Amino acid sequence: MLSNSTTQAQQLYIDLVKRCVLNLPYIDVELNPIQPVGAFRKLILKTFLRVGIQLAHSRRGQYNQRINGMDFSDVAHSMLSMVRLDNVQYCMETVLQENIPGDFIETGVMRGGSVILMRGILKAYNVTDRTVWVADSFEGLPAPNVEKYPQDEGAAWHLRPLTEVSEEYVRRNFERYGLFDDQVQFIKGWFCDTLGTAPVEQLAVLRLDGDLYESTMDALVPLYPKLSGGGFVIVDDYNLPPCRKAIHDYRDREGITDPFVTIDGAGVYWRKSS
Ligand SMILES: C[S@@+](CC[C@H](N)C(=O)[O-])C[C@H]1O[C@@H](n2cnc3c(N)ncnc32)[C@H](O)[C@@H]1O
Repeated sequence: MLSNSTTQAQQLYIDLVKRCVLNLPYIDVELNPIQPVGAFRKLILKTFLRVGIQLAHSRRGQYNQRINGMDFSDVAHSMLSMVRLDNVQYCMETVLQENIPGDFIETGVMRGGSVILMRGILKAYNVTDRTVWVADSFEGLPAPNVEKYPQDEGAAWHLRPLTEVSEEYVRRNFERYGLFDDQVQFIKGWFCDTLGTAPVEQLAVLRLDGDLYESTMDALVPLYPKLSGGGFVIVDDYNLPPCRKAIHDYRDREGITDPFVTIDGAGVYWRKSS
């Protein structure tokens, strides 16, 4: 449980972690590596890499746009906006203050920025009895399984190498922040194979960031029943029609009527009433 008054030092630390995962301190010199999309580009990039040269876009990040989530970075540890990171902080601080039991999970972590923030918040408040679960394939999004999930037809995220971030890379990112320890647990694999049997017992915050109908549903079905009353579900991709459809299908099926709260006009969350 958090004391009523968090100190300025705790808030400053959390603010700095948020700025770091968005790469804000280095945004003016940020170069975004050209992605190996297409055979010709792959060959050129590989040839340069062989002699130690990484080709990058001269386009640099824009500070104000990064804060608002309008700026897409290939190197920042999180794709989220500052507003969405503030929302992660708000949900975590609320459950800690109100002593809502359970751990924290993000399903779909990519480079790990928001789970790094989660671990940082636990560290700031010296919370030692809760875990941050880090769930991802660590090989990008699956190709749409149209037979089972026709709602994902046409999705092409799996063709984008950008989301293919290895477990080792994410682990190393945690280490770079001094935040890798046994309060961080990885769940590697496709959600349909892992989340049903993962050793997660109780959750206080469930953050969904898997983009697809399949990835949203495969996370909600096993994990929502483990969410404590008073806990939060955060839906990063509510603006994407397949994800939104999965959310509404699940809520309708389970009779969930807890109201949505918008985070920034695109992502939403709700608080589980019981
Ligand atoms: C948009 S990115 C997540 C961004 C991240 N939350 C951040 O802070 O930047 C989506 C991630 O979800 C993962 N993912 C999507 N569907 C998945 C599935 N069905 N099983 C496992 N991982 C999945 C991808 O590998 C990718 O890393």
